[in-house]
Amino acid sequence: MNLDQQRIIILGGTSGVGLATAQMLAQAGAQVIIGGRQAEKVQQAMAVAGSNVTGEAIDATDAEQLRTFFKRVGTFDHLVLTLSGGKGGGAFASLDLNELREGFAAKFWPQIQAAQLGLETLRRDGSLTFVTAISARSSMPGVAGLAAINGALEAMIAPLAAELKPLRVNAVSPGVIATPWWDNLPENQRQALFDQSATTSAVGRVGQPEDVAHAITFLLSNGFTTGSIIECDGGLRLG
Ligand SMILES: NC(=O)c1ccc[n+]([C@@H]2O[C@H](COP(=O)([O-])OP(=O)(O)OC[C@H]3O[C@@H](n4cnc5c(N)ncnc54)[C@H](OP(=O)(O)O)[C@@H]3O)[C@@H](O)[C@H]2O)c1
Repeated sequence: MNLDQQRIIILGGTSGVGLATAQMLAQAGAQVIIGGRQAEKVQQAMAVAGSNVTGEAIDATDAEQLRTFFKRVGTFDHLVLTLSGGKGGGAFASLDLNELREGFAAKFWPQIQAAQLGLETLRRDGSLTFVTAISARSSMPGVAGLAAINGALEAMIAPLAAELKPLRVNAVSPGVIATPWWDNLPENQRQALFDQSATTSAVGRVGQPEDVAHAITFLLSNGFTTGSIIECDGGLRLG
């Protein structure tokens, strides 16, 4: 499926995986619209992503903002959701359940809210792609909360693909990817975690945003793939 001139919305497209995906899709000739909460990041992302990428400041936790946004954008072909949370990780015995709720509020609810509200103007036989996390499919200690958030999204992929056909519904489930998502960790801790992940993985490195962007681009462009979850984790789940 040719992505040339396709209109593609990426919510969470101003950083990391979403920004790399915007750049890759724009290079394939698509017209990409990115959204994120911080206007300054939208401007910076547009500056690096080139003329095929436009953007808007939007908070996907806010249903009214999403309705207005989708109405203004009009019909489009593909929706990609790379919105992130961050909270909900840690040992289960001491896991702060309020933080886990915040984790759901920052990732699970905005992703499905954006998916639901985008349906009205999304092309009937276009595609909808969620970005989840390999925590949903691994047995690493300390990730039960994150597994719950991302597993809840992943559990919806097959039933949504069946219910919304001919719309194709898929997900990419990334492992550890070097993006600004990790910037809240002190440099030495972040590097130690990346080194540990690289050692545990099967490919000997952490992922780059382009690795995940490539998997997302495949899901948008392959018209025969639906109800699928691509594990893009360098084999981390196998370690
Ligand atoms: N990096 C990893 O190791 C990793 C691993 C597994 C899964 N993932 C998943 O991959 C996806 C992309 O993560 P990333 O690493 O690329 O993170 P990132 O660099 O932090 O990017 C997150 C993007 O989402 C936007 N965003 C967050 N909340 C939003 C909201 N309520 N409304 C609109 N935009 C919002 C951010 O912009 P603003 O802050 O300006 O809103 C930013 O553009 C996420 O779903 C994440 O959970 C990442």
